[in-house]
Amino acid sequence: MYAFKITGGRPLNGTVPIKGAKNAILPLMAAALLTDEPVILHNISYLSDVITMSGLLASLGASVTHTPDTLVIQANQITTTTAAYEYVSKMRASFWVLGPLLARFGETRVSLPGGCAIGARPVDLYIKALETMGANITIENGYVHARGPLHAADVFFPKISVGATHNTIMAAVLTPGTTIIHNPALEPEVIDLITLLQKMGADIRGIGTKTLTITGVSKLHGAIHTVVPDRIETATFAVAAAVTKGNIMMTGARLDLLEAVADTLRPSGIILTQTDQGLRVDATHAVLKSIPITTAEYPGFPTDAQSLLTTLLSLADGKALVTEHIFENRFMHVPELVRMGARIQAAGNQSVLITGVPELSGAIVTASDLRGGVGLVLAALAARGESIVQRIYHIDRGYDHLEDKLIALGANIERIPY
Ligand code: UD1
Repeated sequence: MYAFKITGGRPLNGTVPIKGAKNAILPLMAAALLTDEPVILHNISYLSDVITMSGLLASLGASVTHTPDTLVIQANQITTTTAAYEYVSKMRASFWVLGPLLARFGETRVSLPGGCAIGARPVDLYIKALETMGANITIENGYVHARGPLHAADVFFPKISVGATHNTIMAAVLTPGTTIIHNPALEPEVIDLITLLQKMGADIRGIGTKTLTITGVSKLHGAIHTVVPDRIETATFAVAAAVTKGNIMMTGARLDLLEAVADTLRPSGIILTQTDQGLRVDATHAVLKSIPITTAEYPGFPTDAQSLLTTLLSLADGKALVTEHIFENRFMHVPELVRMGARIQAAGNQSVLITGVPELSGAIVTASDLRGGVGLVLAALAARGESIVQRIYHIDRGYDHLEDKLIALGANIERIPY
């Protein structure tokens, strides 16, 4: 296994490229199963989750080829519609092949998912939506066995789910008649999926609203698409600038996708400037201020950025309550931050109270999920002395060689075996 060895305390300055969002690339790859023509995705970064999804699609018979920036997927020779445990257990987003396989082939078996251990993460909303559309679904030997044919329906989500929205949209685009999805997720990655599907010939109306109207077509075609930039990677480097008092230009990044996070940075005197090239975050004169955070569905504060801000608030002036509304177990990084000197107490089931301290000190810590792990890396970059962040395979799921980008910004970080 590998760890990051980090000596903190250096301001991070320079330019870093922000590539396509992990949380968009994965559903876009699943959408390629809806056509026998090639789907070409640009602005790709080769995270381990993208490699896992490529393996899953290849195991179904799709051809997946890539150049440094581009993925080409062609699903013209699907040999099986069973998505094996081997893939789905590694990454929850693999479950999103359920909708496209069912819609195009009429039957599929998809292993129940694994992924980051940040909560129970049920799939009832996915299943209910497909059942409303006529699917016959049984759970057998750890697999969801879904059989069509599907029909158009009114699908109402009692709770907003990004994954269930992706999955239902992908099922509806090839289902005859007009399906209406009430209360879909509005995350930029959902909009990106809809944009690709429209390029493939799908009839989807109401994009960006609380009601999507989808009229099924008999066939979709290939398309070329540039993936929306990763707003969570953007938030990561913004917080890296903030906690080290640095100045980072993120090429390709978009401030409009990050407003809820930006609102928590500006009171600290951090200047965010959108240019044609990307987003600049200047924290050279920042004085970190405490500000309460509650995670919520988009456009609210993203749950994926909660651990990043937990680190920032650990170093801010004052006290702040952080409340996690999306997942029930998303404070696993907190005990490790406390070992680095942070003052954080539980405040009920879903909240922590953070009292800022002037500095953190280096320690050996362990990542237990993707974003929590990155929160620990940010803490180590700011801390006095040396830290070792263990189990960075969690971090590799969502960041493409994070250490290379940080080194280019002046960080003292090294990937070491242990
Ligand atoms: C969620 C985040 C997404 C983030 C991703 C990775 C939200 C709304 N979604 O997406 O922004 O990028 O994690 O960390 O912030 N749920 C059910 N039944 C289901 C599906 C979901 O009860 O069938 C619940 C989940 O347990 C959770 C909430 O709905 O409490 C939102 O889950 P969902 O949006 O589906 O999760 P992801 O798609 O993983």
